[in-house]
Amino acid sequence: DLGTSAVKLLLMEADGSIKNIVSKEYPLSFPNPGWSEQKPEDWWNAVVAGIKELTDGFEKDKVAGISFGGQMHGLVILDSEDNVIRPAILWNDGRTTKETNYLNNVIGKDKLSQYTANIAFAGFTAPKILWVKENEPKNFKKIAKIMLPKDYIAYKMTGVHSCDYSDASGMLLMDVKNKCWSKEMMEICDVKEEQLPKLYESFEVTGNLTESAAAELGLTTNCKIAAGAGDNAAAAVGTGTVGDGGCNISLGTSGTIFISSKEFGVDKFNALHSFAHADGCMLSAASCNKWWMDEIIGTKDYPAEQKPITDDKLGENNVYYLPYLMGERSPHNNPDARALFIGMSMDTTRADMTQAVLEGVAFAIRDSFEVARDLGINITETKICGGGAKSPLWRKIVANVLNIKVNIIESEEGPGLGGAMLAAVACGEYASVEEAAAKIVKVIDSVEPDAALAEKYDKKYAKFKQIYPTVKDLYDTLKA
Ligand code: XUL
Repeated sequence: DLGTSAVKLLLMEADGSIKNIVSKEYPLSFPNPGWSEQKPEDWWNAVVAGIKELTDGFEKDKVAGISFGGQMHGLVILDSEDNVIRPAILWNDGRTTKETNYLNNVIGKDKLSQYTANIAFAGFTAPKILWVKENEPKNFKKIAKIMLPKDYIAYKMTGVHSCDYSDASGMLLMDVKNKCWSKEMMEICDVKEEQLPKLYESFEVTGNLTESAAAELGLTTNCKIAAGAGDNAAAAVGTGTVGDGGCNISLGTSGTIFISSKEFGVDKFNALHSFAHADGCMLSAASCNKWWMDEIIGTKDYPAEQKPITDDKLGENNVYYLPYLMGERSPHNNPDARALFIGMSMDTTRADMTQAVLEGVAFAIRDSFEVARDLGINITETKICGGGAKSPLWRKIVANVLNIKVNIIESEEGPGLGGAMLAAVACGEYASVEEAAAKIVKVIDSVEPDAALAEKYDKKYAKFKQIYPTVKDLYDTLKA
């Protein structure tokens, strides 16, 4: 799982048992307010070091396959000699306001929706290509290959320029309905098909490790590489959210609500993403809590901070928090939105503010949930994964704010496990992703919502919902 804070590597036996997990962090840089970049070379170095550590003490020639979940939408560009041209511009980068407005207002949302099934959001790949064209024309001219983050790692491993449908869906370059690159979007972005990757199903083999990659990773050229998936789709596989009407919530750096569906659909306002699945993505979820704990309070002991938030405090907090540290994607589509606390009084405690952060993220997830509900999708339960899912308190808050049952999976490594499962399918260990999910994924616990608490949270949510429209116009004035 090529994440935003770290790459999380997972070694899985063919029967689904997890043998080892290794995590390697890399820097994330914010060169300007609202910008977010990482160096693809840092990802690769972390993957090489991580795989060596992961397989240490295991029979390396038995590693039959590798696959991926990866942070979506990031723009990685290579020149004709395969050098990385500039740092990758990530999914939570908000620099493309002008390009996004151009796409949505001049090209028009109707046309975009017709070409790609989506509208433009600042973090998507196409507006970033337009940004590079406008702001870094020399770099733009050098572009030989355009790829997404995990596909850079795949390329280093196989030499094949590949991408899977789930991740490609988030580029705003693919005709999601017909699963091919959109000629119109290529024209609008001044991109040629040979600059774009070849498209594969997530469980399809794209190649084997090249000799040099095998030597660098300490593995063999028998090792097959499968295309993999965007992290939320990979997490859906890793939590068994496959087939029709399944739901998974991921509390990672981003927060997403993922709905699997056999039918392809687009919501009226394009507030959700119609990818090779439907999802709503908020840009800062567990990262809000991390920011609040690490940067503001100055602690790493998250459980200790959550301990005073006892059951009787739930549904009673008068402090509200808007979680828009990096702007917001679903459903507001506003890169200039920012976080805020409101409602503090002299008796407000540190714990009340911590609680407000956890609740604010849950309310923002409910915003996307409501859009799905308006589409007629009836969600009665969900899986949950990601770093934030480790907190029993946060799981309880999510269950009651959404008023649905939350199922906890044996492993919260959603995208990493999903990636490994895709590799197992590619290697022929399972006939399908559905079969792998049925045999591997185990629900070990669940949180049922409490009717009285859900009702209290319903009232709190009604108040939360009023804050953003009230402050919305201020964001432009306050802009750095
Ligand atoms: C999904 C999205 C995020 C990133 C985070 O649309 O932007 O979930 O994939 O890694």
